[in-house]
Amino acid sequence: MFHHLSWWYKLFNKNFNGGHESILGGIVIHCLLIVFGGTGDLAHRKIYPAIYNLYVSGHLPERFAMVAIGRRDKTEEAFRGEAADAIRRYTRENRGTQEDINKIVSRFFYRRADFTEYDGYEELKEYMNILDDKFQTGGNRVFYLAVAPEHFGTIVSNLARCGLTSQENGFKRVVIEKPFGKDLRSAVELNNIITSVFREDQIYRIDHFLGKEMLQNIMVIRFANALFEPLWNNKYIDHIQITSSETVGVESRGGYYETAGAMRDMMQNHMLQLLMLTAMEAPVSLDTHAIRDEKVKVLKAIAPMDPVKASRNVVRGQYGEGIIYGRRVPAYRSEHRVSPESDTETYMAMKLEVENFRWAGVPFYLRTGKRMPAKTTKIVIQFLPLPGILYYKEFNKLEPNRLIIEIQPREGVIIRFNGKKPGTKSQIIPVELDFCQNCAVGEVSPDAYEKLLLDVMNGDSTLFTRWDEVEYSWKLMDGISEVWSRQKPAFPNYAAGTWGPAEADELLQRDGRRWFND
Ligand SMILES: NC(=O)c1ccc[n+]([C@@H]2O[C@H](COP(=O)([O-])OP(=O)(O)OC[C@H]3O[C@@H](n4cnc5c(N)ncnc54)[C@H](OP(=O)(O)O)[C@@H]3O)[C@@H](O)[C@H]2O)c1
Repeated sequence: MFHHLSWWYKLFNKNFNGGHESILGGIVIHCLLIVFGGTGDLAHRKIYPAIYNLYVSGHLPERFAMVAIGRRDKTEEAFRGEAADAIRRYTRENRGTQEDINKIVSRFFYRRADFTEYDGYEELKEYMNILDDKFQTGGNRVFYLAVAPEHFGTIVSNLARCGLTSQENGFKRVVIEKPFGKDLRSAVELNNIITSVFREDQIYRIDHFLGKEMLQNIMVIRFANALFEPLWNNKYIDHIQITSSETVGVESRGGYYETAGAMRDMMQNHMLQLLMLTAMEAPVSLDTHAIRDEKVKVLKAIAPMDPVKASRNVVRGQYGEGIIYGRRVPAYRSEHRVSPESDTETYMAMKLEVENFRWAGVPFYLRTGKRMPAKTTKIVIQFLPLPGILYYKEFNKLEPNRLIIEIQPREGVIIRFNGKKPGTKSQIIPVELDFCQNCAVGEVSPDAYEKLLLDVMNGDSTLFTRWDEVEYSWKLMDGISEVWSRQKPAFPNYAAGTWGPAEADELLQRDGRRWFND
């Protein structure tokens, strides 16, 4: 009998690299997580709370441990104390107990190392082997590079040199934080280094927007409802607006933001992901490749940004001082670690056309900015008016039908349509069907990093960016950077607390449209 069981156990392990079936569903893989940049901001605000939440909800593999790597000199005890503080501070509401926190941080380890020095990797290798034995993680390893992008190549090369990337004994996966390059050339260079060590299916390029509940819901809304899909094309849709606005400025991240700006921080990745999910064709299956194939086709269908288009259809902005929620806030150029002459854009808007059968003639307007009057990420689909007869004789006075997919902070779907105002007069008013999935008290969706970390451990890369998505998105952005590099912008050109520069309004007014700011 025991013999029989152990045979099954071996077979199961072989198939799933040491996994077991989670009582909550799905295959949970035993593994060791190695966080480069383990003393940094991202690790504390996102990664450790995500591990904790996975643990509390029963999704973390039983056999799991985490090693953080940083340069700071600290004891394991001090590191665990800081990780526990970060968990308490950043975790979702009402999650777990102090005992749970103690239990999870007891599986956290800290190694001091400079990842530009090779010797540290040899030591790390030995240490990981010890942890593998202790926690029975079967040689499965996830290397999470929560470090500045210039270090990605060095770490990956050193891991390979040290033999830490061999898949002979357990899987080896690498998670790369954004931004993936700063233009097409640097992204290709970086990709060449990484793919010389890891196969594409071992590489998990994070765009944490993809881990958000409502992003995953876009495909469900579109492809699991007879209601929407038949209308989802240029016969019925007038235009689409995608907005991601923040009320905050750059806070403590001025140094990073100066090298990124709204284009590299938001547009090239998060905003184009929203566009792809909104515009893609139905995949032949829910298989990772099938979904990614359809997403990338959207980018391929966007005509390149030639200088005329880039000048006419793209707007950049930078905030000056202004008022947010009744409080005066400084101009971008006065923020900490920002040059007083900075030409970095904190706002970007653009009009794109997806030139395929479904979308020809339907403009997509995308905008993202900091220090806006509201924090919101949403997709607004505006439908065409009906023929100008009956009530539509006066269609100018009727509000167009709109479908609004709210991504964050409110997660939901709103349908705006026209109805008769109750009463004896024949008066038409706009009304709403409003579904909110996180409005009820206690309804807090899992953080994107929880879902993404679990997916990496499970070997599911659907919600990560494939190389060709990165490639095509940079091609599009490079056309814009090229034009921007030749013209000095007249910054600042919008006051903090407003909806961006006047040119962004003109971009739509020209087409007889306006941004939806409500
Ligand atoms: N923070 C966010 O909200 C956020 C959001 C999205 C993406 N990201 C991306 O995530 C990555 C990390 O960002 P972050 O904000 O966490 O940066 P950070 O706070 O500056 O942390 C950088 C980390 O790298 C470590 N490090 C730097 N040089 C090192 C070296 N030579 N050897 C060993 N360790 C070294 C630092 O360790 P020591 O301090 O101990 O030296 C620290 O742990 C970046 O690619 C960023 O673009 C961050």
